Amino acid sequence: EKLSLWGGRFDGGPADALARLSKSTHFDWRLAGYDIAGSKAHARVLRSAGLLSDDELAGMHAALDRLDADVTSGAFVAAVSDEDVHSALERGLIERAGADLGGKLRAGRSRNDQIATLGRMYLRDHARIVSAGVLDVIQALVEQATRHLGVPMPGRTHLQHAQPVLLSHHLLAHAWALLRDVQRLQDWDSRAAVSPYGSGALAGSSLGLDPLAVARDLGFDGAVENSIDGTASRDVFAEFAFVAAMIGVDLSRISEEVILWATKEFSFVTLDDAYSTGSSIMPQKKNPDVAELARGKSGRLIGNLTGLLSTLKAMPLAYNRDLQEDKEPVFDDVDTLELLLPAFSGMIGTLVFNTQKMTELAPLGFALATDIAEWLVRQGVPFRIAHELSGAAVRVCEERGIELWDLSDQDFADISEHLTPGVREVLSTEGSLNSRSAQGGTARSAVEVQLERLTTAAANA
Ligand code: ARG
Repeated sequence: EKLSLWGGRFDGGPADALARLSKSTHFDWRLAGYDIAGSKAHARVLRSAGLLSDDELAGMHAALDRLDADVTSGAFVAAVSDEDVHSALERGLIERAGADLGGKLRAGRSRNDQIATLGRMYLRDHARIVSAGVLDVIQALVEQATRHLGVPMPGRTHLQHAQPVLLSHHLLAHAWALLRDVQRLQDWDSRAAVSPYGSGALAGSSLGLDPLAVARDLGFDGAVENSIDGTASRDVFAEFAFVAAMIGVDLSRISEEVILWATKEFSFVTLDDAYSTGSSIMPQKKNPDVAELARGKSGRLIGNLTGLLSTLKAMPLAYNRDLQEDKEPVFDDVDTLELLLPAFSGMIGTLVFNTQKMTELAPLGFALATDIAEWLVRQGVPFRIAHELSGAAVRVCEERGIELWDLSDQDFADISEHLTPGVREVLSTEGSLNSRSAQGGTARSAVEVQLERLTTAAANA
């Protein structure tokens, strides 16, 4: 006998093609432990409502514990005829507790409220693992920033030299973005910590079951206020998928830089052998595969989010079978990030920076032109004119193939009477960096404050 959950009004089992289409055990099996925990909690409220005796509750729990152990050991697995994890486990329970007792558990619940609840339980657990993985990447960035305090590099906009910044400042910019992702997951948890159990198929239960008791039992803060919402909504899944995609995007931006920095042309970093790969044909190659895989997998994480949102779009209330498609995207998010994050933090932690090259390049490309303009402003020149004068200095340098500090006092005077020899005080990387000492700036003193605040925020996350 196939699918036996709804035998009553059916003549026969489903066509093989439908059974194959319908099946989800190959991806929802990972929820088995949560399903059994939910069943134990549900049995307790059945007892409280007088629908199970003490003996029956004890028998039910003993059978569920045996089933749990058999699932863990692999002694109990989904059969070809099982549609989903819920129906498989009901079969397993009945095999262990007998049809009379085992058949009582389904009262007052539906696979619709079950699946909505189990998904939240699973994601809440894995959100913690993902957060820890992201915090490890942050930690690796913080360690590199600490190790290299004071090292300048070319700061870029439009990928062109813009202004000198500290390498630590740049690395911490990535760390702050990732820290917000961790905070997003924490904030998300307050919405995920609400249990749909007790919503039944969509309308709630007539059996006097207490949703709050089940919720507390399963580690939730509360139960849903609306049973239709409880069974039909998946915004909590979609929000998880957004944060996963955001983490992917944030990692991809670091990745892109690591890939560029590791080129011969940049030569800003050397990757550790343990976090790079070779070529099967080109003996000299050392490839940044971790960063490339992270960049690639960010596309997959974005795809999971857009796929899930597309599934949800325009779906009428309440539960529709479309919702079975909610799981693979978020499960893939979890698998992808739990695989990627340890490799990523390892890659970041072992990067060797070519600090000499970075320091040399920091002021090149007229990256101190803004400093000249701001120096003029401090002499009372309106910024619009200061900008023009500094631009004129750049133009002279470009014509002669020299840098700003190569201009003579006379060269400066020829451009403007305002450009007195005093301007030289800002014509060094050091002077430029140190002048940006307000909160959030790239001066070493400001970066030290930033580093401490980030460390504290990450420790509290
Ligand atoms: N396996 C389904 C899912 O993943 C849950 C079962 C609900 N099925 C149903 N026919 N009401 O969403």
